Amino acid sequence: MQTLGDAEITGRSSLEHRVWPHKRYDEMYRRSLEDPERFWAEEARRLDWYETWDRVLQWQPPYASWFVGGKLNACYQCVDRHVKTWRKSKVAIYWEGELGETRVLSYSTLFREVNRFASALQKLGVEKGDRVALYLPMIPELPIFMLACARIGAVHTVIFSGFSAKAIADRLNDTQAKLIITADGAYRRGKILPLKGIADEAADLSPSVDKIIVVRRTGQPVPMTEKRDLELGSLLDEADKFVKPEPMESTHPLYILYTSGTTGKPKGVIHSTGGYLVYNHSAYKWVFNIKEESVYWCTADVGWVTGHSSIVYAPLSHGAAIVLYEGAPDYPAVDRWWDIIEKYGVTIFYTSPTAIRMFMRYGEEWPAKHDLSTLELLGSVGEPINPEAWQWFYKYIGGERCPIVDTWWQTETGGIMISPSPGIEPIPLKPGSATFPLPGIDAAVVSAEGEELPLGQKGYLVIRRPWPGMLPGIYGDPERYKESYWSRFPGVYYTGDFAIRDEDGYFWILGRADEVLKVAGHRLGTAELEDAAVSHPAVAEAAAAAKPDPVKGEAIVLFVTLKEGIAPSDTIKKELVAQLRKSIGPVATPEEIYFTRSLPKTRSGKIMRRILKAIAMGQEIGDVTTLEDEASVEEVKKAHEALKEAIEGAGGKAAR
Ligand code: WTA
Repeated sequence: MQTLGDAEITGRSSLEHRVWPHKRYDEMYRRSLEDPERFWAEEARRLDWYETWDRVLQWQPPYASWFVGGKLNACYQCVDRHVKTWRKSKVAIYWEGELGETRVLSYSTLFREVNRFASALQKLGVEKGDRVALYLPMIPELPIFMLACARIGAVHTVIFSGFSAKAIADRLNDTQAKLIITADGAYRRGKILPLKGIADEAADLSPSVDKIIVVRRTGQPVPMTEKRDLELGSLLDEADKFVKPEPMESTHPLYILYTSGTTGKPKGVIHSTGGYLVYNHSAYKWVFNIKEESVYWCTADVGWVTGHSSIVYAPLSHGAAIVLYEGAPDYPAVDRWWDIIEKYGVTIFYTSPTAIRMFMRYGEEWPAKHDLSTLELLGSVGEPINPEAWQWFYKYIGGERCPIVDTWWQTETGGIMISPSPGIEPIPLKPGSATFPLPGIDAAVVSAEGEELPLGQKGYLVIRRPWPGMLPGIYGDPERYKESYWSRFPGVYYTGDFAIRDEDGYFWILGRADEVLKVAGHRLGTAELEDAAVSHPAVAEAAAAAKPDPVKGEAIVLFVTLKEGIAPSDTIKKELVAQLRKSIGPVATPEEIYFTRSLPKTRSGKIMRRILKAIAMGQEIGDVTTLEDEASVEEVKKAHEALKEAIEGAGGKAAR
């Protein structure tokens, strides 16, 4: 038994199951679990601190505070640090616009811009601790504003540019943000998305907002409300050249990022400054083996956690050169990405299984037109990668030369948790397996009762001790924090994922065990979709389920019961699709809608989701495992038959 902070740690280490000894990894992993505080203190010393910590970890389950008493600044780590060295003239960001424009920012340019932006925010009265909402396309101004917020201690909340006004307003109201930073428009597949118009609509629903800063991207005219709306250009004209970075307490929030859970309301996941940066700085080095000369491209949207950690904070904290691409992957032609890799000489390429499957469909002749020989390492994130997609990626993009790091993590974990770590030591890869936990990550697969399972048995993925990147809480909702992560298995972090370890101890992540879907890598809660559907006046009740999709991983299937006397129709179907897009955004578009007279429920009123899933997939109820639902096999079968009849009775399936 070991101790960590104030708690005792029990259970086996995941090293015990390993067959291949990996010298460096094993040594480091063992050390990280034997004396975690010492291990993380060593890692933390790689960053620059204004004041060192008094305590590495204060662990009062379920609350972990890292590097307590320490002070540092995230913007300083990512920018100022580098301009003090030769890296001042190194490329920080290669930006590629959808229309083909290029902007190259050196670290000294980034330093200049970040300071001016920070000064503009300060002059508007933004102070340490204030929440600032960023609703921007993938343009350099987005990371610059994130860093500018971090510089002055403001807490940014980035809102994905594909979200609707209502989804934005929910986030603004939850954070009580006073300021939105947006752009006139965003280019998407050659069309313009009117971001400012959407932000205006959201601001009307959000009483806390009193200023909107508009960045010019498309140049189209947009309505400007006097006194409230401000042009970035004019603010920068007045801005100072230098703003002193604010020494921030390690435990101070760096940002809030919303993600879906099992209730209708998205969760505002908080990330701290010190723990988050230390964890990401280390994980990035272990996983991507970043070198000074690397050109690194992560294709995620900055609006998701991958963008926060793996585009902005981790790479820039290493002084890496990153590529930032604004547009759609297959626009104007389906080789746009391969063209970008060739153009910038990308060496590390990090993307999603959905994107890989989409490009597989387009065919290998597209990457074949380009010289991809600069690539050294490939990465995948966001959903399980099927072996076929893995092989295609390995062969046609990596030229059978580049290892693939399949990285498992979550918005809540802050950084990559389970992944090959060639930066420590290369290990034999298995297509579809995220392999092993990174140092300090005590991952395990447990039964419904919380017992660690033998190899080869499917169970729940948990993390048995805190790590520095772990979320310190849900904004404004401590109960939900406890309930979502720490109540399923007391004292242990519950991921919400199913996993299995194979005979060699490798971890295979099998997808979500809770009511969360992953559609093209985007996380959506069934409750969120259902809330949106029942806000349609004809809908009495709705249930959402996922069906496997060959490209997107999962697709949304909606089951709807209409109010008494209302008959299913094409109009209602269309309105429902519109309703979901309006409440959440285009990612929430259902693939299929079934009208049904009733929904299958357990005695306690829980929807029997596996029945919905079976119907969505056109299957019979097969293997009834004890991991799901609380009903008996007989009840499930009966409910399945009943649902089939109820759908027939209500007019049947209505494909979109
Ligand atoms: C899933 C994304 C399998 C998983 C960084 C997790 C994965 C959820 C992988 C978090 C992977 C992420 N293999 N599944 N390599 N990476 N997931 O918060 O279900 O958007 O719980 O964070 O994505 O999604 P989120």
